[in-house]
Amino acid sequence: MLQRAEPQEFDRVLSSMCTVPHPAARDAAERFLATNPGDPGTYETVSGLETEAVDYLGEVTGLDDPSGYVASGGTEANVQAVRIARNRADTDDPNVVAPVHAHFSFTKAADVLDVELRTAPAEDYRVNLAAMAELIDEDTVCVVGVAGSTEYGYVDAIPTIAELAHDADALCHVDAAWGGFYLPFTDHDWHFGHADVDTMTIDPHKVGQAAVPAGGLLARDEALLDELAVETPYLESTSQLTLTGTRSGAGVASAVAAMESLWPVGYREQYERSMENARWLADQLRARGHDVVDVELPLVAADLSVPMTDELRERGWRVSKTGAGEMRVVCMPHVTRSMLRSFVADLDWY
Ligand SMILES: Cc1ncc(COP(=O)(O)O)c(C=O)c1O
Repeated sequence: MLQRAEPQEFDRVLSSMCTVPHPAARDAAERFLATNPGDPGTYETVSGLETEAVDYLGEVTGLDDPSGYVASGGTEANVQAVRIARNRADTDDPNVVAPVHAHFSFTKAADVLDVELRTAPAEDYRVNLAAMAELIDEDTVCVVGVAGSTEYGYVDAIPTIAELAHDADALCHVDAAWGGFYLPFTDHDWHFGHADVDTMTIDPHKVGQAAVPAGGLLARDEALLDELAVETPYLESTSQLTLTGTRSGAGVASAVAAMESLWPVGYREQYERSMENARWLADQLRARGHDVVDVELPLVAADLSVPMTDELRERGWRVSKTGAGEMRVVCMPHVTRSMLRSFVADLDWY
């Protein structure tokens, strides 16, 4: 079976938030396949690379002297951010307030950490701040803003969310897992330099073009990460703050290789290309009579009928639907104009 199995081709994938790794990232992943940054005393080189990865992520997100680590993905980073907030707070009944469009990893976080998740409704695809404020109380440990939502690619009002969080003595966590490598080239206020953000998720294995698994958790203050530390008696190092034990050195090395190759010029070019593609696709769909959500980051959601979306899947296109039933196309780095042209040609055939 394995002899015949081939990995996914990307030439018709419009639904994924992962992409083809940069060639240097692929090479680095292969070279560091058998290393474990979870044991930094033994695997010193990859541990040094992890410090470089965090430094790069700090540059991308406006954070001098960043603390953090390369996680298995956005899910782990979000779970850990909630864990930091819960551990630091002094309450027996902690809650997290997040937008309704926050990624489902916050549902997992709430479940495993025994924290209540309160979701605030959206208005025009961004969290309704008045509704969010109403949900916050003295047991709120964390208020979440999303910078690049999974379904629509929209950015919440991060500076106001940070204020709401700190007025309640809670932490502000920003989930920029997907948007984080597009946002530096926009005029959004989303990062540590724009607002009093405490922790952030930003994933090299999405728009960062690293190999999977490479997520990122960042904290403004190292003391926040200390909330995660457990003692590790049998390792050469004395404590560990990651959720997983043994981890992928491939992810760490490939994250550094991708960022070394692409930050900032390559990522900027990619942002511009992907935005042009998203706007082009939105125009094409509008011209065919579909309602299209205004494009904020390179993600297009449009009201194609369910049978039409199903037919496109039959023709090999990997497209997904939003919870509200719109077709969703994520303009990742592997999504080219010629791919989109043939996608639109298939739409016309239908
Ligand atoms: C905004 C956001 N946060 C978190 C995640 C979860 O990331 P992962 O699948 O790497 O765990 C995703 C995944 O698409 C996402 O879009």
